[in-house]
This record gives sequence, C-alpha cells and structure tokens, in this order.
Amino acid sequence: MVKKAVIPAAGFGTRFLPATKAQPKEMLPIIDTPTIQYVVQECVDSGIEDILIISGKGKRSIEDHFDRNFELESRISEREDEATYNQLRHIEDMANIHFIRQKELNGLGDAIYHARFHCGNEPFAVLLGDSVNSSIIPVTQQLIDAYEQYHQCVIGVERVPHDKVSRYGIAGGTHINDRILQISELVEKPSPDKAPSDLAIAGRYILTPQIFEALEKTPRGKGNEVQLTDALRLLLKQEPIIASVIEGKRYDMGNKLDFLKTTVEFALRRPEFAEPFKAYLKSVVND
Ligand code: G1P
Repeated sequence: MVKKAVIPAAGFGTRFLPATKAQPKEMLPIIDTPTIQYVVQECVDSGIEDILIISGKGKRSIEDHFDRNFELESRISEREDEATYNQLRHIEDMANIHFIRQKELNGLGDAIYHARFHCGNEPFAVLLGDSVNSSIIPVTQQLIDAYEQYHQCVIGVERVPHDKVSRYGIAGGTHINDRILQISELVEKPSPDKAPSDLAIAGRYILTPQIFEALEKTPRGKGNEVQLTDALRLLLKQEPIIASVIEGKRYDMGNKLDFLKTTVEFALRRPEFAEPFKAYLKSVVND
C-alpha cells in the first residue's frame, strides 16, 4: 500500500523569473487555482492523504494556502457565497499536509532525502510540482497500480520529441508490455546522441525506502546538484525498477510557453469561460 506522498517545492523557480522573485512558483495559478493544489488533488484522487511538502525559503504562502483562514471564511459566509466558502473549506480539508524545510538547495535528490524520517520504511509517491496531469485514471494512481503488481520502484515516463530529451531524465530498457518497461538505463538530461530512448521521466514516481540509502551515496551530478535520477541509477544495481508510460496528458509548468498553453486549455474546459473565451481567441487569432 502506498499511503504517503512527497512533493518537493523548495526550488527557486528561476525559469519563471521575475514572477517567482518574491512568490513560490508552486503558487502560480492556472486561472484561479495554484498549481500545487492540482498536484495535491492528484494525490487525493489517487487515495493518498498524507502529504509531505518539501518547502524552503520564501515558500510560506504554500503553508498559508492549505491552512484555515477564519477571518476570510467568516467574511465570505457573511456574503452568503456558499460556493466560494465550500471551495475554501475544501482546500483546508483535502489532505493531511506536513512541511519540512530544505535549508540549502542541493537538488531534487537532496530534497527527497529530507523525507526519510517521514516515510520510514514505506514506499511513497513523489510528485514534482512542475507538471499537472489530465487523465481518466489519476497518473499517481496508475503508478500505484503498477507498484502493486510488480513491487518495484515505478517511474512515470512519457515519449518526448528527440530534440527535447536534454530537458529531462531519460529511461531506457525493454518493454514487458505496451505500458511497462524494465529499466536498464537512467540518465539525467542527456544530449540527444547519448539518450538511451525518447522516454522522459514525467515528474511522477513510486519509490521504495531503499532510495534513501542510494541518495546517501549519490555524488553531485548535473548542475552540481544531487540528482534523483542518479540515485535511481545506483539503486538499479541493487533492485529492479520499472517505468510506466503515463496515460493522459501532461502539462509542463516548467516553462512559460507551456504554462500559457495550459492556461488556455484549462480555460476552454471551464464551462463559465469556454464559449466567450473561444470566441475571444478566434477574434484575436484572426486579427
Ligand atoms: C526534474 C528531474 C528530471 C525530470 C523532470 C520532469 O528535472 O530531474 O529527471 O525529467 O524533473 O519535469 P527539472 O525539471 O527539475 O530540472
């Protein structure tokens, strides 16, 4: 049973400057909802309610977002705006959220290492905040299902254009079936000529607690940071790891153009915006 999830959220968000100079990138909204709330919702929809957020300097608004705000609630309830009131209560009650601070930004691997006492001897999910998924079965649930079948670490992957492989961790291996790959190689952000495949690590993982020992032995890698991909490559020498090709659409929040596209697609799906927004888009595109 996978009962816990870890969401690393300590990074500077340099790819989104200047918006992230004084606010966490995880709080950037898609329309009216911070991206991290979508990620927490994916955990909840996958049956996980114990969530550890790895936080850091300048990230206090994430804690406030998931906390109760009685003054705001009473103001909203005075206005008899039940829908908004219920939305606020939903955020506060959606999960048991714990926070730990990563004091120095030493990379994703180091961030995950901060979860060792919280996760103890249990497998756990990892969800990176820079992607949001839209799928029939929540992506984390898909990985949990694979974990329950194979009892190995599971890395969510998706095929990317060959010229984009250097943006991602890349997994190579042999297919067990259409969706599942037995991994033999893992490389963080390889150049296209060195990539073992076009299957990119898609920001979702189920990890066994053995990852913590591997992280202890992982030297600094790409960007002089402790990389989770490098720790997984070490772990691969001790235990098998599978990749699961995710079913659904992944929205990459890690760069500005994709963030814009995500906002447009999400707006077109909202009943209150769909028609007027589509008409507006048509009018500007045709100008
Ligand atoms: C991280 C991981 C990388 C993964 C990517 C997915 O990189 O290190 O393996 O493919 O997330 O978004 P980052 O984007 O934080 O540099």
